[in-house]
Amino acid sequence: KILIVDFGSQVTQLIARRVREEGVYSEIVPFNKAEAAFAEMKPKAVILSGGPASVLDDNAPSAPLSILTAGVPVLGICYGEQTMAQQLGGTVEAGHHREFGRAAIEITDTCALFDGVWEVGGKYDVWMSHGDRVTKMPDGFRAVAKAPGSPISIIADDIRKFYAMQFHPEVAHTPDGAKLIRNFVRNIAGFAGDWTMRAFREEAIEKIRAQVGKGKVICGLSGGVDSAVAAVLIHEAIGDQLTCVFVDHGMLRKDEAKTVVDLFRHHYNIPLVHVDASKTFLGELEGVTDPEVKRKTIGRLFIDVFDAEAKKIGGADFLAQGTLYPDVIESVSFTGGPSVTIKSHHNVGGLPARMNMKLVEPLRELFKDEVRDLGRELGLPDIFVGRHPFPGPGLAIRCPGEITREKLDILREADAVYIDQIRKADLYDTIWQAFAVLLPVKTVGVMGDGRTYEYVVGLRAVTSTDGMTADFYAFDMKFLGETATRIINEVKGVNRVVYDITSKPPGTIEWE
Ligand code: XMP
Repeated sequence: KILIVDFGSQVTQLIARRVREEGVYSEIVPFNKAEAAFAEMKPKAVILSGGPASVLDDNAPSAPLSILTAGVPVLGICYGEQTMAQQLGGTVEAGHHREFGRAAIEITDTCALFDGVWEVGGKYDVWMSHGDRVTKMPDGFRAVAKAPGSPISIIADDIRKFYAMQFHPEVAHTPDGAKLIRNFVRNIAGFAGDWTMRAFREEAIEKIRAQVGKGKVICGLSGGVDSAVAAVLIHEAIGDQLTCVFVDHGMLRKDEAKTVVDLFRHHYNIPLVHVDASKTFLGELEGVTDPEVKRKTIGRLFIDVFDAEAKKIGGADFLAQGTLYPDVIESVSFTGGPSVTIKSHHNVGGLPARMNMKLVEPLRELFKDEVRDLGRELGLPDIFVGRHPFPGPGLAIRCPGEITREKLDILREADAVYIDQIRKADLYDTIWQAFAVLLPVKTVGVMGDGRTYEYVVGLRAVTSTDGMTADFYAFDMKFLGETATRIINEVKGVNRVVYDITSKPPGTIEWE
């Protein structure tokens, strides 16, 4: 195991992810709990994360001395480097110029971290994000790289196996960063790298059992991958102490409800309450055109319906959610200042307080692709695991303007044809998310000898890694032409198809 001591960097989880990618299990603990965790876990190596503080501040956080004297390899990153240097007797000063963003460092000496990656004399891109720098190294260290802002950019003590760097190797902007971490984990700390998603599954199950005890857990399924994986995992841990609730709000994709019910009731035999609440939702949404009002109405009703179902099954002590790591970081404001609400994302966030429940979030440390791996590990069918993300408010936000059953039906059909086309062209896994939108306008067309006056369907497809930014997908024209023809021929009520070529930013992925 590796212990990651967290000093509050926004990207600490990426360190854990890089370590997992090397097939090694790690746990992140806040710096003020690190001493106890280190004693209990007995890790074979430690990584000190970056963080927003300055070691020059009063009461600056530091690493427990017990870690630095235990004889295990330690890797210090950014703030982790500075506190390590200072605690071991070196000097840290405020930099003359703060370095943020891309920088080139020059390798000045050999180092076990660089094996097979960097050569002496070479210059390499790294991602800096810090104000302070080490000006005098502690005894036993040597400098092995320099940066424009500081002659001591990476320090190494080969005897104690202490290594530290000013920049962030865990982010993608440091192109060779993952290889440096690999060298630390494999060569320096000596891990075999045989930890897998199977091990994650077993550890997660133990944690869920420990947290939940004999309590009852309720889990809202959305039809998406995350809640499904969370539910299957929790069911494996605590069996029928878990009840799943699937609220059909009438704005789901074609065959969605059937897919979910089949999977849970028949494939996994997990207790599932299937609530058809479409009348309530569509009734309340009548005449609503404002996107935010739509989103909030759906969120509120969702909580009402869910709450009522939970009462019917006799209440629950815990609410399970498929929260992923990107949801966690997105909810922490980067600047600390007020951030603007672009869209009120719908989740069941209002529930725990209202129903007095604690949260079970077994996927909190994982990224989307890791959740997919875990889903496969748990035996979820590939076709389900690989599904594109689908928003909580469903087709409501793909139907700008007022929502009606008729419009939703048209949209559902058009979307199904579009996705079928994408699957047939073998593009489904290349595209991050694709869907149809029904525009609230009718246009004139001609079919056979007659005039038509029907709706317009918009098609959207994007590539992305996390949904935070996205590029529109460049289909070839033949594909688009054939898809338009199929939609117009097969879906009654549509006579025109357009393709959305907006990236994010400035557009968002969904239209509302
Ligand atoms: P936007 O439209 O904000 O979407 O660029 C980014 C990603 O988030 C999904 N999305 C949602 N997911 N509840 C969700 O669970 C929501 O209210 C919601 N709104 C957008 C969207 O589908 C895309 O994947």
